[in-house]
Amino acid sequence: MNLEVIQADQKQETELLVLGMFEDDLYLQGIHKEIDEALHGILSQMLGKKEFTGKERESQWLPTYGHYAAERILLLGLGKRGTAQPRTYRLLGGKIEKQRKNSEKVMVALSTFKQDPYSTEEIAQWMAEGLELATYVHHGLKTSAQPERTEAQILFQVSEDDAHDVQEALSFGQVLAEGINLTRRLVNTPANYMRPKHLVQEAEALAKRYGMELEILEESKMEEMGMDALLSVGRGSTEPSYCVVLKYRGCTEWDNVLGLVGKGVCIDTGGYSLKPGNSMADMYTDMGGAATVLGTMEVIARQQLPINVVGVIGAVENMIDGNAFKPGDVISSLAGKSIEINNTDAEGRLVLADCVTYARQLGASYLVDMATLTGGILVALGDQVTGVMSNDEAWVEELLEAAHEADEYAWRLPIFPVHRDMLKSSQADLVNSAGRLAHPITAGAFIESFVGETPWIHLDIAGTATTNKENEIQPKGATGAMVRTLVTLAQHFSQEETD
Ligand code: BES
Ligand code: ZN
Ligand code: MN
Repeated sequence: MNLEVIQADQKQETELLVLGMFEDDLYLQGIHKEIDEALHGILSQMLGKKEFTGKERESQWLPTYGHYAAERILLLGLGKRGTAQPRTYRLLGGKIEKQRKNSEKVMVALSTFKQDPYSTEEIAQWMAEGLELATYVHHGLKTSAQPERTEAQILFQVSEDDAHDVQEALSFGQVLAEGINLTRRLVNTPANYMRPKHLVQEAEALAKRYGMELEILEESKMEEMGMDALLSVGRGSTEPSYCVVLKYRGCTEWDNVLGLVGKGVCIDTGGYSLKPGNSMADMYTDMGGAATVLGTMEVIARQQLPINVVGVIGAVENMIDGNAFKPGDVISSLAGKSIEINNTDAEGRLVLADCVTYARQLGASYLVDMATLTGGILVALGDQVTGVMSNDEAWVEELLEAAHEADEYAWRLPIFPVHRDMLKSSQADLVNSAGRLAHPITAGAFIESFVGETPWIHLDIAGTATTNKENEIQPKGATGAMVRTLVTLAQHFSQEETD
């Protein structure tokens, strides 16, 4: 998709012209009036008969039969002035992409969407995001022919003064949505096509494309280093396990490093603590954390943010065979702590334990780990709210603020000493599962015990990484949740760096 600005006074023939209209603002002026006159009053007639009322997300076609410099006009409702939210603009962007059908040249009269307190740039960015998010479809491996979409050129009409800034905003919105779509694609790919080695290849491709440093730890190397927690999870699989590191250097000195750590369990059968079949089938999405790290790092690299980021991904399969780890085993970890395995289905925290330890060894000074970690978070917060845990008030405040700004829901759960106590083991430093009570929190507390003094945030995206509801910008399946929040966090991080 090609998103560009065009100066409003430059008349241009187009297939489709898109206009916004507010519900309480239907008297015709400016471009609306011009169109009404050109079309012999059809717009005022339609409004008079309440065929179009400007309600939020309402849409209406107007054919022009050659009386106007656009073949067709699409009216989009914005609701009452002052009510449209960022998400409204994203959804409207999505509506344009879905409704344009095969129009290849679309003009958007951006000024008709303007509403305080938002700037023209903000509105442009949100609409661009929606347009690009709406291009994402998951056909999977259907062998029947799927409808082909033509690439569109979407021109946003702006004043001369705004042209440069709006173009930047459009590009950023698009880059952000492409990062989200990358995350979605990785998560939606079935486990037999998204094995640990494929996750490695995806990281490799990103590193090449955007000039990031890449380190791939193979099993022999991890063995040597003592990454026993990650390796234990992957032992029952015939596919090798990996730990992948992406380094993005936006500063000359390698300090103040943001560490992003992701759970990349490509299939979680539960291992010997086997999952029932129906809950196993969705577990190809259990690499959602890793996919979120990759999507976020793509955006950071493309925007060339002036910060340092290290991304660490543990890519494994939790399977069963003669080599698999078993309930009752006691294993070790990169940090040297011993862990009593009482549930092989609590595998994500084991992978993360070694990955956060390695991120710290690589110089991460602030950590965010993300994982489809517990079914309990889905029960507690639902499928639209990401669970947050942290050991640092100031750092978690930054994250919650970023989530608010990015328009994603995130809610903090506590970790109290009583939760840490639940992880005590009689024969090792800790157990990997404290059972059912508060299990999203004890899972967080487990990871916390590996981060030492480093400010750390844990995001449990088990609820938010996938959805079974759909709308204009979100098909069923993977969502790409938290990419936007993490990019916003990274932007704030870079502003602090340059202050
Ligand atoms: N990958 C699952 C968590 C999950 C559940 C993700 C549902 C997405 C949807 C995780 O590895 C797991 O199995 N967690 C257990 C933890 C328990 C053994 C303490 C769970 O949530 O039941
Ligand atoms: Zn899992
Ligand atoms: Mn599990």
